[in-house]
Amino acid sequence: MSHKYIIESGGTLQGEITVPGDKSISHRALMFASIAKGNSLINGILRSSDVLCTLAAMRAIGVHVEESTDGTMLVHGTQEFRQPREPIYLGNSGTSMRLLSGLFAGLNIPVELHGDDSLSKRPMKRVADPLCSMGFIVKTSPDGTAPIIIESRDQQDTIEDFNYSLPVASAQIKSSILIASLFSKIRTTIDEPSKSRNHTELMLRDFGADIRINGKEVTIVGGRELIAHDIQVPSDISSAAFFIVAASIIPGSDITLKRVGLNPTRDGIIHLLKQMNADITIENRLQSGSEAIADIRVRHSPLKGITISPEYVALAIDEFPILFVAAACAKGKTKLRNAEELRKKESDRIHVMAEALEKMNIKVTEYDDGIDITGGKLKTPNEALYSHDDHRIAMSLSVAAMATQTGNLTLNNVETVESSFPNFHLLMQQAGMNITLK
Ligand code: S3P
Repeated sequence: MSHKYIIESGGTLQGEITVPGDKSISHRALMFASIAKGNSLINGILRSSDVLCTLAAMRAIGVHVEESTDGTMLVHGTQEFRQPREPIYLGNSGTSMRLLSGLFAGLNIPVELHGDDSLSKRPMKRVADPLCSMGFIVKTSPDGTAPIIIESRDQQDTIEDFNYSLPVASAQIKSSILIASLFSKIRTTIDEPSKSRNHTELMLRDFGADIRINGKEVTIVGGRELIAHDIQVPSDISSAAFFIVAASIIPGSDITLKRVGLNPTRDGIIHLLKQMNADITIENRLQSGSEAIADIRVRHSPLKGITISPEYVALAIDEFPILFVAAACAKGKTKLRNAEELRKKESDRIHVMAEALEKMNIKVTEYDDGIDITGGKLKTPNEALYSHDDHRIAMSLSVAAMATQTGNLTLNNVETVESSFPNFHLLMQQAGMNITLK
């Protein structure tokens, strides 16, 4: 059954909000705790459909995970795995599919990984190719998409050192290679055109891996046993972003997002919004393991359009749909280029957002690798809008609907929000958005 949001224009956002745990960190915590020696307690893990796919995959290979009513998970790390009886279904989760390809290849567990319609359209050759160069047998469909089939191989350590230059900045490809490298004795060096999120590197180091980060280059020497490590998952900056932008564009708003992960490879949205004249203050900075955490206070402020410089693309890769909403409310033009990766996410985020914003009275020009958005007055469209089965599109358009002057927006197929932020509408209601789930 398809779910919809009805969002009424108007209202302001107030108060203190704690958004759920970071999705990227939650996936990695489950994977690394599963293969470490000993038990790891994970606190604040995101219980979204994407992360639950990773949990189910870990259980399918025989990992024991205890879930408590207080939301913690106790992962019993193991070095003895069983072969899954059936293909593993990973729903909408690109992170699960790409990182688990590296994990299962490295562990020499033959398996087939498949996903929903959206995931089955996304490029997977980008992980299969480097894994094959490392000597693993990883196959995709003829057009380079899922299902991914990992076959067992008799001989380990077929290559000496492995050096790989990522064709695009991608934490998922980088992580897949790093995870696959854990189980051999080889030295693997990866460099990327610009720095992508580094949660894998930081967390593997916390689990005791021999890993070195040098700017855009990372080197890992496999063969060292991972040791159990407790993890406190920070709130997800990608989920906080919907509140940060909403408070920036809705007059009268003043909101504080509590204990948000502020890793410098993820905080591009804060820098870009500040360039746009947003009123954002960072308070109560602290460190949780290797991850930086802080409270983020946001008050409404008139925004101005900017030209986004290319180094921010990877640092804000998941925040562009909501940043486009900020641009739609800003004075002047916002220009983005070098962002063709946005067309390969859960939907074609450049096209889908361009189409929706046009229907909401905003002037946009699409480019192959970006978009120009001229700020104006967002208006409620004459028709219902559709999420394109992309969680971040659904949440971004909800914020756009709140920023209109009058009317109600109906947004269809919002069940996709479950993949990263199951209580989005409840927290938005609490903060002051008039949003109903039907
Ligand atoms: C993620 C990396 C990013 C991001 C995705 C999560 C991760 O993808 O878009 O939502 O957890 O590693 P790419 O690395 O492919 O850009």
